[in-house]
Amino acid sequence: MAKILVNNSGPLHGEVWISGAKNSVLPLLAATIMTSDTCVIEDVPDLADVSVMKKMLMKYGAKIDDAEEGTIRISTPEIISCEGDRDLVQEMRASLFTMGPMLARHGKIVMPMPGGCTIGRRPIDLHLKGFRALGAEVVEDDENEVVTVTAGPEGLRGDVIYLDFPSVGATENILMAATLARGTTIIENAAKEPEIIDLANQLNKMGARIKYAGTDMIRIEGVGKLSGCIHEAIPDRIETGTFMLAAAITRGDILIRNALPGHVRPIMAKLKECNVDVEVTPEGIYVDARDRELNSTDIKTLPYPGFPTDIQSPFMAFLTTVDGSSVVRETVFENRFMHVVELNRMGADILIENREALVPGGKKLKGAKVRATDLRAGAAMVLAGLSASGTTEISEIYHIERGYENFVGKFKALGADIMKISND
Ligand code: UD1
Repeated sequence: MAKILVNNSGPLHGEVWISGAKNSVLPLLAATIMTSDTCVIEDVPDLADVSVMKKMLMKYGAKIDDAEEGTIRISTPEIISCEGDRDLVQEMRASLFTMGPMLARHGKIVMPMPGGCTIGRRPIDLHLKGFRALGAEVVEDDENEVVTVTAGPEGLRGDVIYLDFPSVGATENILMAATLARGTTIIENAAKEPEIIDLANQLNKMGARIKYAGTDMIRIEGVGKLSGCIHEAIPDRIETGTFMLAAAITRGDILIRNALPGHVRPIMAKLKECNVDVEVTPEGIYVDARDRELNSTDIKTLPYPGFPTDIQSPFMAFLTTVDGSSVVRETVFENRFMHVVELNRMGADILIENREALVPGGKKLKGAKVRATDLRAGAAMVLAGLSASGTTEISEIYHIERGYENFVGKFKALGADIMKISND
C-alpha cells in the first residue's frame, strides 16, 4: 500500500493554483446524463473520485472523451442500464448523485447502499423523501441493501419539499430530478453551498429553469427537455482552505491563486482570529503566518455559509500548535473526530467530549505512523507532519487521492519535504 512520508519542512513559501472543486464536478458530471446531447465540463481535477463517477456514468450508457487534460466531453445517447454498480457505490458515496438524474431521464434507478468516507452514519432518507415528494415510488430492500426508485407512468411532478437538514447531496439530487418534472418544485431549507449554485448554473445552461439557488428556498420550473452545455467548475474551496492552513501551521506565507475569497470567508475569519495575516489581493488570497504570535480560537462547524466541516480536521491540526486551548465542535456529522486519535499519536493530547474536541494547544508535535482515516483527515495528517519534528508516515492515502489533485506535487512546489512511497 502506498504511503506519504512528511518531514518537518520549516515555513512553506510560494504560490499554489487551486483546482476545480471536487464537490462541484461530481454532480456536474452526474447532471450530464439528463440529456442525450454533448456536455463539456471544464476545470475537472484529476482525482480518484472523478474516475469513479466516470465509470458509474459509463455503466449507464455515457460516452466519455477526456483526452484533453482538465476537460470532459460526455454524451449519453441512450440509457443502457439503470443499475448502480455496487463496487463503485461502495467506493464513493457521491455515486448517489446519479439517482436524481437517472430518475429524471429514465424513470428508474436501482441503487446499492453507499460507502464513502467513514464519518458517521450517513443516511439517504432526505434524498428518498425528495424523490417520494416528486411522485416516485421508493422501495428499500434492506436485506439486499438496494433501493429502487421508480417514477410513475407520467414521470415526476413538482411539489414543495422541506428538508429536515440542509443536506448538500439531497438538495443536489432533488434539484436535478425536479428540472425534468412536470410543474413547479420548491426545496425549502435547501443547502446553500457554492456547489449548489454551480450545479444550478450548469443546469440552467442546459435549459432548466431554476431560481434562487444559493438561498434556502430554491424554485424549479420543470422543463420537457435538457440540452448540451459548456460549463467550467468553480475552484475548490476546501483545497483553498487546506493551503491556507498549510501556510498557518508551518508559519510560512503562501499566495493562493484561483481561489474565490467569498467561498472561504469563515476560514479567513478564523485564521485572522488566531492572528494569521490573510489578505485578499488581485492575484489571490495571501496568507502570512511568519514571525507572529499565534493564539487559539474556537470552531463550530455548520452548513454553508458557516464554518465547513471539511476544514475541521485541518484546522484542528493547526490549533494544536498555537498558544492556548481551543474547543472544536462538530455539528454536521456525527463521528468526524477520527483524526483525533491520529493527532494524539503525534502528541496533541486532544480530548473528545460528545461532539466537542478540547485542543490544548502549544504542542510541539512529533512525527509518528498515522492513518488517513478519511479524505480531510488525511490532509490534516500531512499538515501536522509538516510542522512536527522527525518523520510522519501516513498510510491509507487513497483517501487523500480521492479528493486532492497532485497533493504531494503541490506541497513540494511550496518547499515541503514530502514524498509518496509505494510498498509494493
Ligand atoms: C457533501 C460533501 C462533503 C461535505 C458535506 C457537508 C460532496 C461530494 N460531499 O456531502 O464533502 O462534508 O456535504 O458539507 O459534495 N443527512 C441525513 N440524511 C440524508 C442526507 C444527509 O441525515 O438523506 C445528514 C448526514 O448524515 C450528515 C448531514 O446530513 O450528518 C450532512 O450531510 P450532507 O450535507 O448530505 O453531505 P453530503 O452531501 O454527503
